[in-house]
Amino acid sequence: MAGEAKLHIWDAYWDLRVDECPCDVQFCDWLEKEKITNAAIFHFGTGGHHIVGIRTAENGSNNAVMGITASPQEYETFVQLAIERPDVEKTYKTFFGDIYQLDARLLPQFEVVTLFHLCEFRTEKNDAYGALTDRQVLDMFTQKTKSGGYLLFYSGSFAYDAALRIVAEWEKESPVEKVGMYETLLVYRKK
Ligand SMILES: C[S@@+](CC[C@H](N)C(=O)[O-])C[C@H]1O[C@@H](n2cnc3c(N)ncnc32)[C@H](O)[C@@H]1O
Repeated sequence: MAGEAKLHIWDAYWDLRVDECPCDVQFCDWLEKEKITNAAIFHFGTGGHHIVGIRTAENGSNNAVMGITASPQEYETFVQLAIERPDVEKTYKTFFGDIYQLDARLLPQFEVVTLFHLCEFRTEKNDAYGALTDRQVLDMFTQKTKSGGYLLFYSGSFAYDAALRIVAEWEKESPVEKVGMYETLLVYRKK
């Protein structure tokens, strides 16, 4: 029987606003600085601009990006992008959904995972349908990160304090080590 709770979508649209939210552009810069190529990347929160997928496709890195958005409006711009730019769509896939509903069985291993928006959007609306917690999402993606791979957080997030509390516990209990900061990005490596 269908429950009454509806999916907690992000009923908004985020265009590229680098001054306000530089994480995606700085992430692209970091990938290039670290010379990360041929990698599988998971990206939490694509925005409607899809800069990570576009820049990755255009810079010759051959990185493949799987993105998630909980915004129907942002997903629509992905569909348009995919139709108009098959060169981008070849290495960039985004799907619509709630990250807190992800099923580990459907996820491959990644070399790089971004969790820039950890703790920003999870509320009692996600509880209403038994969604994962922030820590469970972090643990799932830790398992889905290859040894030597990276997990990145965003210090400019409005929920960074909450994310850091989770990260501090996770760091003690998981096979990860802190690499350091790149601009606003907090970088960890899986051992
Ligand atoms: C403020 S926008 C930032 C977009 C992009 N990272 C940037 O910095 O330009 C937040 C993003 O998180 C996504 N988001 C919010 N809640 C989500 C959820 N539960 N699951 C997946 N994505 C979510 C939104 O769809 C949106 O793409």
